[in-house]
Amino acid sequence: VSALTIDEAHEVTPELVAAFERLVPHLSKSSPPPGKDELAEMVDAPGTFVLVARLASDGDDEPGAGEIVGTLTLVCFRIPTGVRAWIDDVVVDDAARGRGVGEVLVRAALDRAVEVGARTVDLTSRPSREAAIRLYERCGFVRRDSTLFRWTPPEAG
Ligand SMILES: CC(C)(COP(=O)(O)OP(=O)(O)OC[C@H]1O[C@@H](n2cnc3c(N)ncnc32)[C@H](O)[C@@H]1OP(=O)(O)O)[C@@H](O)C(=O)NCCC(=O)NCCS
Repeated sequence: VSALTIDEAHEVTPELVAAFERLVPHLSKSSPPPGKDELAEMVDAPGTFVLVARLASDGDDEPGAGEIVGTLTLVCFRIPTGVRAWIDDVVVDDAARGRGVGEVLVRAALDRAVEVGARTVDLTSRPSREAAIRLYERCGFVRRDSTLFRWTPPEAG
């Protein structure tokens, strides 16, 4: 049996940098993992919460023991219609999938969003991410009929 803990990252440690190096390739082949400066910007940003899941095996009884096996980022911000929030970059290590780590991370993020007064929490997922979609529906997310737009700056040069 192993124990799962969810923490909010407040400082950038080599462990955190290594965890993102391991996890981000599961999210995007084209985005390099954040380095320590980018992670510092994230953990220091007001309204941004970087949650990490740790799985401790029997015998790891120190607080904070256990390897980081998953993460997500919650961003909360005020706009004219209220405090809103997004969850993004949800990822769990291959070896730790299917044990509820993703669900516990998402539920922790929802609790945090409620604490900071968010009226709604949004996220997007590609239809091919079936495990992710089932997980979000389990957590109470409901599909919205809305068109997602994205603008990308033209290549420089
Ligand atoms: C989506 C993801 C975060 C889910 O993490 P997780 O900790 O496995 O989540 P949970 O255990 O709470 O939910 C697991 C779901 O994965 C499936 N699953 C079970 N065992 C699995 C395994 N060994 N490997 C992969 N998926 C498995 C299950 O079908 C389960 O869904 P179900 O209970 O509805 O059938 C994880 O699969 C992941 O990191 N995927 C790659 C990145 C990604 O797609 N991120 C989401 C971007 S929107």
